[in-house]
Amino acid sequence: MARKKIAAGNWKMNTNIDDGIALAVAVADAARSKDTVTILAVPFTHLYPLQKKIKSSSKVLLAAQNCHHKASGAFTGEISAPMLAAMKVPYVILGHSERREYNHEDNALLSLKLRAALDAGLKVIFCCGEGLDIRKANAHVAHVKKQLTESLFQLTIAEMKNIVIAYEPIWAIGTGETASPAQAQEMHAAIRSMLQKKYGKRIAENTSILYGGSVKGNNAKELFSQADVDGGLVGGSSLNATEFVQIINAF
Ligand code: PGA
Repeated sequence: MARKKIAAGNWKMNTNIDDGIALAVAVADAARSKDTVTILAVPFTHLYPLQKKIKSSSKVLLAAQNCHHKASGAFTGEISAPMLAAMKVPYVILGHSERREYNHEDNALLSLKLRAALDAGLKVIFCCGEGLDIRKANAHVAHVKKQLTESLFQLTIAEMKNIVIAYEPIWAIGTGETASPAQAQEMHAAIRSMLQKKYGKRIAENTSILYGGSVKGNNAKELFSQADVDGGLVGGSSLNATEFVQIINAF
């Protein structure tokens, strides 16, 4: 089984519901005929209306951008994994660097969130990546290895089939500075070899590893042509239908 090619848009805290519906419909119309998988990670408020509107197919799927680590309880303002699963939202992003930074989510908490998501039957796009200081110190591979070891590598082989990994160097997110295709490939190959050591060849070869960090219509092709880059997790450029469709077409 060849691993999936995925273009995932992370809208973050952008779009009101009307803009969001228009954007999702435009993207879904263009993406449905493709062999690749398109995922739209939208604000919680958009999930239910979009689920109705775009009739999520195996080609166009919705994702939440976070979930709580408990299934239910007195956690005002939070959304749980079973709530998402009950709405038939297939994916959730966990470990995005913005949540690690602004919401103080560490590897230990992310390990609990992964457990909650998988127990609820969700698939997870799990983000990892280093800051600029770590990259400059040439410690980026070790840093990502620690993130994966402390959060992700608690999972069983069967559970790993529900994981997509997104490598997102923090210095490239929203900065307009993209990792070079060679930098992306180096890390993706390193992650795949970590997967092989921990879970064996099958999981290593079948796990999609996405690159994120200033992916655009005009650089996606080169990034996606790298052997171990299976697509992108796209922030800013996913908010414009034309640009995002260009990225989907870059495979
Ligand atoms: P960007 O964001 O494409 O705007 O750099 C990527 C992300 O945060 O997932």
